[in-house]
Amino acid sequence: MDKKIRIGALISGSGTNLQAIIDSCESGKINGDITFVGSDNPEASGLERSSKHGIPTFVVDYKPIIQSYKQNPDSVKIPDDFDLDDIITKQHLSSEDTPQEKVKSFLITRAVAEAKLINKMKPYPFDLLVLAGFMRNLTPYFIDRVNTDRANPRIMNIHPALLPSFPGVDGYGDTFRYGCKVGGCTVHFIDYGEDSGPIIGQKAFQITSNDTLDTIKEKGLKLEWELYPECIEHFARGRLQTVRMSYELKNGKKIERTVVKIL
Ligand code: GAR
Repeated sequence: MDKKIRIGALISGSGTNLQAIIDSCESGKINGDITFVGSDNPEASGLERSSKHGIPTFVVDYKPIIQSYKQNPDSVKIPDDFDLDDIITKQHLSSEDTPQEKVKSFLITRAVAEAKLINKMKPYPFDLLVLAGFMRNLTPYFIDRVNTDRANPRIMNIHPALLPSFPGVDGYGDTFRYGCKVGGCTVHFIDYGEDSGPIIGQKAFQITSNDTLDTIKEKGLKLEWELYPECIEHFARGRLQTVRMSYELKNGKKIERTVVKIL
């Protein structure tokens, strides 16, 4: 029997995916244990689920940090190891026409919050960090401090759409409003962009003319609760390998992409 992996989780809301992961750990479907649950939202009801299962929790409330910076940038203590230029170069979270001041304040406030997250995570060593409805983009400041071995990413996210379609905060809503006939969910490793990292697994469902946004969410969530534990179990069994691939397109342009192979 392989050694159980230690899983940390970050949530923002109701935590139904977290519950599916907790249940899968308890039933042995995932060869792992959840070692902590953190949230950016003190009201997240998923925190209660964690406490019920005896899992330690903590909160880093992003809102007062963002507010303080807005009122007076000097009132916020920027981490000593924060390198704005490095992070601006790496990140793909903002578009080229986003005003520089906006990008700067976004990256500074997030790094302040992320340094606090890292600090709170310190007592709980982990092999894998799962984002289970965590509604904050993580910046290179956080990612580089967790993914210390570049060849082996260890931050997973679940997204409510078939990526690369509909990244962002409302995957099922965007799928519905576009009039898609198929919807789905995606588990991926995170990278420096928004919902753009290498895909680990996807599940899809049919959308009929009788479907509403509510029924689409219902169908999607049911699949999420299956998909996330399956992908985590692949990780736990050492079955996920990230590979750098080069492709030549019809127009002669060469692209490189990191993809996940399931062994
Ligand atoms: C899920 O649908 C998840 O895919 C989505 O939030 C919901 C959380 O539900 N995540 C994102 O949109 C991330 N960008 P839950 O709290 O009940 O697991």
